[in-house]
Amino acid sequence: MTETRKIAIITGTSSGIGLLTAVEMAGAGYHVIATMRDPAKKDRLMAAAEKAGISQNIEVRALDVTRFEELPSIVEGIARDHGRIDVLVNNAGYALAGFAEDILLEELKAQLDTNFFGQVAVTKAVLPVMRRQGSGHIIMVSSISGLVSFPITSSYSSSKFALEAWSESLRIELHSLGIRVVLIEPGAFDTDIWETNVRLGKRAMSPESSYFERARRYTERVKQERGRRADPRRVAQLIVRVAGMANPNLRYRIGSDAAFLYWMRRLVPWRRYERMIAKGTQID
Ligand SMILES: NC(=O)c1ccc[n+]([C@@H]2O[C@H](COP(=O)([O-])OP(=O)(O)OC[C@H]3O[C@@H](n4cnc5c(N)ncnc54)[C@H](OP(=O)(O)O)[C@@H]3O)[C@@H](O)[C@H]2O)c1
Repeated sequence: MTETRKIAIITGTSSGIGLLTAVEMAGAGYHVIATMRDPAKKDRLMAAAEKAGISQNIEVRALDVTRFEELPSIVEGIARDHGRIDVLVNNAGYALAGFAEDILLEELKAQLDTNFFGQVAVTKAVLPVMRRQGSGHIIMVSSISGLVSFPITSSYSSSKFALEAWSESLRIELHSLGIRVVLIEPGAFDTDIWETNVRLGKRAMSPESSYFERARRYTERVKQERGRRADPRRVAQLIVRVAGMANPNLRYRIGSDAAFLYWMRRLVPWRRYERMIAKGTQID
């Protein structure tokens, strides 16, 4: 079956930026395949879609980005049912927090499995369809942490730095095939990633850890920022704009904190910069 509506696949739509992007894209006329690893969590998305009057444009399907072997058949099923895939939004992700020494190797690997290898695997599953069409947009939800690395979130930053590097190469490889690769680099936006969905390393918050007191101070600081973070709808709206551009840029940073950190990292001499970050994060 070939559809006239544009088809968009979004990963991680049970909450936050993924959920809001699904609603915004459906509102812009896309038929959205809103994927989530547990479709039993679809109520929040569907309530938002009903409220916006666009639930008929959203179809929920199960997809866990770390179940690599299942991804090709899930994507083939979507292409078979809809005839095309115009946009892929690689959004699924989580943040692992903890001082680097406290993070177990398997925790770091799991972080990369979701935030990096998961995005790679979904992209690889979608590429044969986009190559056949000679068109498509692949939008990676990266982070300012993909350009600037902070204490406590070395694992998260590593996953996003890897995504940035892979996407830069991919973009150049695919341009002449009509496929556009874009990185979205948000600063801090108010979603579940900061508290409900944050994963703390097993050792990271243990009183046995030599970093315990510093980690506790950091966690308190994160809590104090609750309610002060930006509205994630702005990120969703940016993604919809980028999906509609024939020739988008490689990178779109979003959020005043992202712009500030990006320029600070580049303009302030390193020794001064590292003191500012240690002070700002209150980890010393
Ligand atoms: N909010 C920010 O400040 C911010 C800033 C920069 C970048 N980002 C990026 O934005 C993206 C979305 O995060 P968010 O802020 O919207 O956080 P969120 O509300 O926690 O949403 C994360 C989503 O990813 C899903 N997910 C996690 N592991 C998955 C897996 N293995 N397979 C499929 N889905 C999975 C979660 O599903 P479950 O419900 O099943 O866990 C959830 O739907 C992430 O890539 C994050 O790194 C966020």
